[in-house]
Amino acid sequence: METSKRGQWGSSFGFLMASIGSAIGLGNLWGFPYKMGKTGGFAFLIIYLILVALVGIVLMLGEFALGRKTGKGAGGAYAALAKKYSFIGYMAVISPFLILAFYAVLGGMVLRYCLGFLVQIFGFDGFAGQGSSFFRWLLYSDSSMLLFLVLFMACTMVIVMGGIKGGIEKFSKAVMPALGVILVVIIVFVAIQPGAIEGYKFMFQPDFSLFTEPGSFFEVLKTASGQMFFSLSVAMGINITFGSYLDKKKNLQRNAVMVPLFDTLFALLAGMMILPACAAFGEDYAQGPGLLFASMQKVFLDGMGGAAGNIMGFLFYFLVFIAAITSSIALLEVLTAAVVDRQLDHGKEPRRKKTALVFAILIFLIGIPVALDALGSGGATIKAPYELLGLTPDSPGYAMWNDCWLDFYDMITEGVLMPLGALLMSLLLGWVMPNLVKDECEASGHKFKGAAYFKFCFRFVIPVVMVIVLATQIQSFFL
Ligand code: PFF
Repeated sequence: METSKRGQWGSSFGFLMASIGSAIGLGNLWGFPYKMGKTGGFAFLIIYLILVALVGIVLMLGEFALGRKTGKGAGGAYAALAKKYSFIGYMAVISPFLILAFYAVLGGMVLRYCLGFLVQIFGFDGFAGQGSSFFRWLLYSDSSMLLFLVLFMACTMVIVMGGIKGGIEKFSKAVMPALGVILVVIIVFVAIQPGAIEGYKFMFQPDFSLFTEPGSFFEVLKTASGQMFFSLSVAMGINITFGSYLDKKKNLQRNAVMVPLFDTLFALLAGMMILPACAAFGEDYAQGPGLLFASMQKVFLDGMGGAAGNIMGFLFYFLVFIAAITSSIALLEVLTAAVVDRQLDHGKEPRRKKTALVFAILIFLIGIPVALDALGSGGATIKAPYELLGLTPDSPGYAMWNDCWLDFYDMITEGVLMPLGALLMSLLLGWVMPNLVKDECEASGHKFKGAAYFKFCFRFVIPVVMVIVLATQIQSFFL
């Protein structure tokens, strides 16, 4: 009775696609290449891959198991284990809230580019006469930024209101394969441009110089760890919620490996598209959050050019938009499910639609500073946190307030809440309830493989890595 009111996955494939759909999004296409570009290519890549294997896969399995065992979303799942743990679940839910606030701004920008290319196909100018410098223009166009933020949030909300099967699952099935194909086509186009080879070298040519400088090593570790949480959607309750909709016959372990595998594949594809494009078209690898938009604009307008560029640009941004939507619906779903669970617990009729609407409005409101601060480039309608406080890069505590609202929300979630949540979860599953994951995996009749590996990671590897990441983050507050 209760399960049907909450909703359940229609098929195993649908669940896998929805999990993959949630994991693959702007984190892979926008975040991974720019963070790799900023922190030195190869070293970031290696650390990232190690973290996925030792931390990401293990945490994902833990979350699926927790969700399915308790049949609850993030908030309720920890409370179902013991009342005193419920704070871990609620802490996890703060992250999707903050992330969605900047995710929706970026998603809105993707939508703007998509429409820009669409009108260009019909012979109009879609980029306000700015061509490949459109990104900077857009950042300072308050009305466009707000309009597209609203549109993106509205799309997300309408799908979540449709409920778990009608909305999320149907949406996710077709898109990922199509996105994979278009990425490969663009990669091939970029690869044959003169100079592209430097981008591959940047990514794949071994360079261990970073490991000799402890300071920068820890910085890269922190960035890669944040990116791993964000991209795999772990440590924010999402997989607990997804697991709770999953029936007892499904193989948890297989899903926990497949999702990170596909996610990492898409991140690598995005890197192999964007960094060689930067090399070929003279964009700076280390330019930060604008990297995807700036480099791809040159590929479509200057590289491919004409009708072909417009059509490819439209297709690309359309698929990125859908990938972003399948992630943002998951983010809004975690929040909605947490409240719907509480309503059910208190014997009330669940009010999914109203809950989704309230969250969508709140997220829009806290997204406004992200939309209007021009990513901290200065002179924008809303001042960035450091400008509001009058801090300069050498003021103590500058790093804490970072340089724009997007980075600020990102720092609170990726830098503090997620590593802290992951630390507490691994201690719980490694030491306090060491059999929970194994028992839940075996409940479906599948053998739990690699028990020693998972146990070792839960008990030692994850706690140690998370303590280092947290310490690095906290230390930066005093610099
Ligand atoms: N993993 C998504 C991405 O890489 O874009 C972002 C995300 C989606 C995070 C859903 C969290 C989540 F619940």
